[in-house]
Amino acid sequence: MLFQELKHDIYRKISKLKWKLSCRKDEIVDFDVYSIYLGHHKVTYCGVEAIRCPFDYLIYQMIISEIKPDLVIEIGTNKGGGALYIADLMNNLGHGAVHTIDIIDAHDPLIDKHPRITTFLNGWQQYDLYEAKNASKVLVIEDSSHHYDNTMAVLQKFAEVVTPGSYLIVEDGIVNELGMTKKYDGGPLRAINEFLRNHPEFIVDKNWSNLFGHNATFNVKGYLYKQQ
Ligand SMILES: C[S@@+](CC[C@H](N)C(=O)[O-])C[C@H]1O[C@@H](n2cnc3c(N)ncnc32)[C@H](O)[C@@H]1O
Repeated sequence: MLFQELKHDIYRKISKLKWKLSCRKDEIVDFDVYSIYLGHHKVTYCGVEAIRCPFDYLIYQMIISEIKPDLVIEIGTNKGGGALYIADLMNNLGHGAVHTIDIIDAHDPLIDKHPRITTFLNGWQQYDLYEAKNASKVLVIEDSSHHYDNTMAVLQKFAEVVTPGSYLIVEDGIVNELGMTKKYDGGPLRAINEFLRNHPEFIVDKNWSNLFGHNATFNVKGYLYKQQ
């Protein structure tokens, strides 16, 4: 089996090389993490800015369809495209609500019109966890400043409301790969590694991050599953 895989891999590499040498310039396929990073700032959902990596959009869709959460708490609304996407997924499932939190009031009017979305404008620090009291399946997404200390504090506050069998998703551990480790003081990855040391109830679910290749996600080690 291993020999077959190796044979196939060598064959694939040789034919790729032949193609690269023979194809026209406008047929060359050439993208990487940085080009995806540049593109993800231009992503919209229903016309609303929705800053998220395309792989992660699909992963979110699969997780939400699988978990069917009663409540998604999103920390970091910005224009609200991400919240809108999640709320529409919930519409399709006929179930669930989104609490989206920010410190700025910059979201699109479409967000206020969506019956499944409630906005909170005083930052995650002021969000009362009691808001989640009636939800039996809670999923939390940390997508705010991505600084190590902020991420750490968010994880510490919100870990308890994530219900077993659901996820605490930490966005943008990719900042280190993008050369921004210093800017974010180690960023989400540093916070995740520290958090996991004291929270054995959470494990990194690699099924999601490795779906399209090793850590083919902007949420490196960021799909944290709370064990049942
Ligand atoms: C990367 S953007 C969020 C993108 C959004 N989730 C989307 O799907 O488009 C980060 C947001 O986090 C917000 N933010 C920063 N500090 C925050 C805090 N303490 N509480 C809540 N949000 C915060 C920023 O104002 C900014 O709008």
